Amino acid sequence: MTDQANQSRRNFLYVAAGGLGAVAAGATVVPFIGSMLPAADTLAASKTEFNVSTVEAGQLVTIQWQGKPVFVLNRTAELLKQVDGHDDILKDAESKAIDEVQAEWMDTPEKRKFRSIKPEYLIVVASCTHLGCIPLFKPTPGRKDWGNSVPEDWYGGWHCPCHGSLYDLSARVAKGSPAPTNLHVMKYEYKSDTTVVIG
Ligand code: FES
Repeated sequence: MTDQANQSRRNFLYVAAGGLGAVAAGATVVPFIGSMLPAADTLAASKTEFNVSTVEAGQLVTIQWQGKPVFVLNRTAELLKQVDGHDDILKDAESKAIDEVQAEWMDTPEKRKFRSIKPEYLIVVASCTHLGCIPLFKPTPGRKDWGNSVPEDWYGGWHCPCHGSLYDLSARVAKGSPAPTNLHVMKYEYKSDTTVVIG
């Protein structure tokens, strides 16, 4: 088995997450309006609940939300440190792109850097913002054999295997990548200390 395959086995688990039941439409809604509402199964799939405490320190898992893969990364203190020190080579280090602004909680410099409600748990859509490939998790700093365009002082993050876009451990895209923006942070909230509701 190749190093890359081994790394994938260690770091890239695919996890099923339960969909939430949606609030039913009011019984008195007139038929015409009712016909315009999304089907119940569509509503049910619009939110996903996940217990982040099931992700071990340093581990990346992929869950499903609205049919899309979503990364949940448990960042250790060491991985959080790797987010610092390379803002100058990022396209949008402060997460100013419009999709980030829509995340109402991303309202402090620290949250815009870590791009998560709780720094340790990064939750982002796992689709490269270029053409939608799933980036590969490459958290170890230093240049590796997996990409010719990877800087010698690689800071750890993701590498898109399709056209080489690079993202750091806050899923912020590097300058020179074909991907135009950071990986998307969707709306989510904590309903308890460890349970997030995505969507
Ligand atoms: S799809 Fe990721 S770089 Fe093109």
